Amino acid sequence: MVTASSEGSSIRVVEVSKDFPAPVDPELRISTLDQLSLEVAAGELISLVGPSGCGKSTLLRLLAGLDSATAGELWVGDELITGPSAERGLVFQDPNLFPWLTIRGNIEAGLVARGVLREKKKEVQEFMKLVGLEAFEHAFPHHLSGGMAQRVALARALINHPKVLLLDEPLGALDAFTRMRMQDEVLRLWESRGTTMVLVTHDIDEAIYMSDRIVIMTARPARIERIIVNELPRPRQRSSPEFLRLRGQILDLLHFAGQASAESLA
Ligand SMILES: Nc1ncnc2c1ncn2[C@@H]1O[C@H](COP(=O)(O)OP(=O)(O)OP(=O)(O)O)[C@@H](O)[C@H]1O
Ligand SMILES: [Mg+2]
Repeated sequence: MVTASSEGSSIRVVEVSKDFPAPVDPELRISTLDQLSLEVAAGELISLVGPSGCGKSTLLRLLAGLDSATAGELWVGDELITGPSAERGLVFQDPNLFPWLTIRGNIEAGLVARGVLREKKKEVQEFMKLVGLEAFEHAFPHHLSGGMAQRVALARALINHPKVLLLDEPLGALDAFTRMRMQDEVLRLWESRGTTMVLVTHDIDEAIYMSDRIVIMTARPARIERIIVNELPRPRQRSSPEFLRLRGQILDLLHFAGQASAESLA
């Protein structure tokens, strides 16, 4: 979805492969991604789901520019990705806050590092309000619940106005109720800013509740098994018959992907 205030960029992954040295014998290479191609529209929210170890985090790290592909190209808008950039935010399952800094300090840290705090000072306040943490400005990370800490991590990434937000199981450590509330918060941020989002999740309901398209990946080396276009109207009803039908369809596909991995191990 692209809003009037859209900040998002399109993403293009073109025949990307990624090999790693095998832990037992560095001479051997393990193929993690195999000529994977994917396009994401500006302002779109997509989910990546697939068996554990198939290469989802690897793909996000390549998009973040934290690692480079063995072959192929990754583009954000008309820019080839060659390294990290504040325009591509990354949020992990662990919020990774600096324990010695206040909540405000954590949100400001990236701005300080880039030497732009002075002109962005007012925005810090706005972002704390946006994620509902105004009252905790002077608190420290150990004062926060898991959900609140994850909201700080989101604010810290969003304050750079990223064109793309890469979310690697960001809600994975939260209890079921907090998780559902946070899903709504992420959707609200997505709708208000129009940031392109790529969400890795193991939670099929989360993928259906949140995303425009769901990319089902095969076991390693990851290829795309299927892309499901999710046209359910928003806000989505988690127990509607259409929601449950889509869930059944995805579970069937994942079961197939799991079987393929068992066969390739045999
Ligand atoms: N730096 C690395 N060196 C060697 N092998 C690696 C490295 N990073 C990832 N791998 C291997 O690449 C494969 C894919 O890992 P990745 O973390 O991308 O999987 P994933 O799909 O995110 O799994 P999960 O769902 O469990 O988080 C794994 O077999 C992993 O061991
Ligand atoms: Mg992972």
